[in-house]
Amino acid sequence: MLIFELNKDTEKPLYEQLYIGIKNAIIGKQIELGTKLPSKRKLAEFLNISQTTVEIAYAQLLAEGYIVSKPRIGYFVEEIDELPYIQIEQPKQPMLYREKGRFETDFHPGKIDSEFFPFTTWRKYAKDLYDGTHNEFLQIGEPQGEYALRTEIAKYLYQSRGMICSPEQIVIGSGTEHLLPMILRLLESDSSFALENPGYSAIPRIQLQNRAVPISVDEEGLIVDELKRTDANIVYITPSHQFPTGAVLSATRRTQLLKWASKAENRYIIEDDYDSEFRYIGKPIPALQGLDKNNKVIYLSTFTKSLMPSLRVAYLVLPTTLLSKYKELFSYYSATVPRFDQHILANFMKDGHFAKHLNRMRKIYRKKHDRLTTTLTTFYSQVTVTGDHAGMHILISVPLSKSEEELKELAAKDGIGIYPVKDYLIKAIDYKNPTFLLGFGGIPLEQIESSIRKLMNCWGIAPKKEKPLK
Ligand SMILES: Cc1ncc(COP(=O)(O)O)c(C=O)c1O
Repeated sequence: MLIFELNKDTEKPLYEQLYIGIKNAIIGKQIELGTKLPSKRKLAEFLNISQTTVEIAYAQLLAEGYIVSKPRIGYFVEEIDELPYIQIEQPKQPMLYREKGRFETDFHPGKIDSEFFPFTTWRKYAKDLYDGTHNEFLQIGEPQGEYALRTEIAKYLYQSRGMICSPEQIVIGSGTEHLLPMILRLLESDSSFALENPGYSAIPRIQLQNRAVPISVDEEGLIVDELKRTDANIVYITPSHQFPTGAVLSATRRTQLLKWASKAENRYIIEDDYDSEFRYIGKPIPALQGLDKNNKVIYLSTFTKSLMPSLRVAYLVLPTTLLSKYKELFSYYSATVPRFDQHILANFMKDGHFAKHLNRMRKIYRKKHDRLTTTLTTFYSQVTVTGDHAGMHILISVPLSKSEEELKELAAKDGIGIYPVKDYLIKAIDYKNPTFLLGFGGIPLEQIESSIRKLMNCWGIAPKKEKPLK
């Protein structure tokens, strides 16, 4: 007789348990080909279940071809050419890069504060657009992005970044990483690239593999003299807030860089203005694009920090000289950001909510920034802080003999995510002391002090002098 363990206390119905049990026994050859199965009545009695349960299980096996029915004789195990279904355990998939960073306290520089997002206002704009009076947005939109959004971006760039550009020069795309391939196609295919070192790690990973020359960065930003000694004709730079060191490209270097670009027709500067909205010390730094008189700057920015990374809206401002090539190459591609999302954002900007949100967030991030830097002063001189003038992360160096990896592991054991600056290098730099990025955007204000203390404690760094925080 067939012996199956049927569990009446699970959610899985008994007929299904029986069907799976018999099926697996057939597949595993515990029941031989041609074997006559017990009658429904006998099996039901034996397993102490209802005949209907057996009937449904047999019917399923019959339907799938595991057994055949011979009228008035019974059910027999059928030959199966190919096993129609084998349950195998799925091998564990490697975790995606971004999934790894699940920590109780995450100092990832890409995290934003999600508590103060104006959901009510955003929802109102979404509701207004999805009310059936904007049916035209169901059709495909302009490849370059919606004109209404491009107009709002041009206005914003004029007011806040000192840039003069028209909506015609703006291209909207779903994130910096998706606009980059577009820029690369716009440039000559034999172009050679220079990248900041350390710098935005996605650039070499996504696009340039080993084709790029690393250029060092100091407290004045990219070292332009070093760039001049290479044969690169394109430079990718974050002048307003160097990522990740936080340096600002000095006025002298700005002029040097623009002059370098103007020396040859095929030279361009890709200005990535990421993270420039939040400045805590000194005046806002205008974009390099605004100083350029020779159509040499391809400007790139994103709403990732100013609104949310999940919106996936970034944009390019192309020099007018590249517009016809852009049209020639890209008119056949559709925009990568949904039309409705573009219009929600455009209306949100038009009515002043974006500026309002930015102002509010500036205050919030400033508070977080100040709380973080003040807490760290209690650990001077064992901790050195740099890059604390702007953005949503700072850099700390600690004179410990352990490696960055070991320190990262120690922090991870305490539920803290911390990111070594070495992860952002395209060419090795010998840092005197382990150096880390401390992103504060995603950490609630009231947890900043305790998080830092916890981190220092797990590294064995004791506070030098205790002073009450404001
Ligand atoms: C310098 C820089 N630019 C751009 C981005 C990402 O922008 P987006 O979210 O638009 O792809 C990052 C993200 O870390 C960055 O570091």
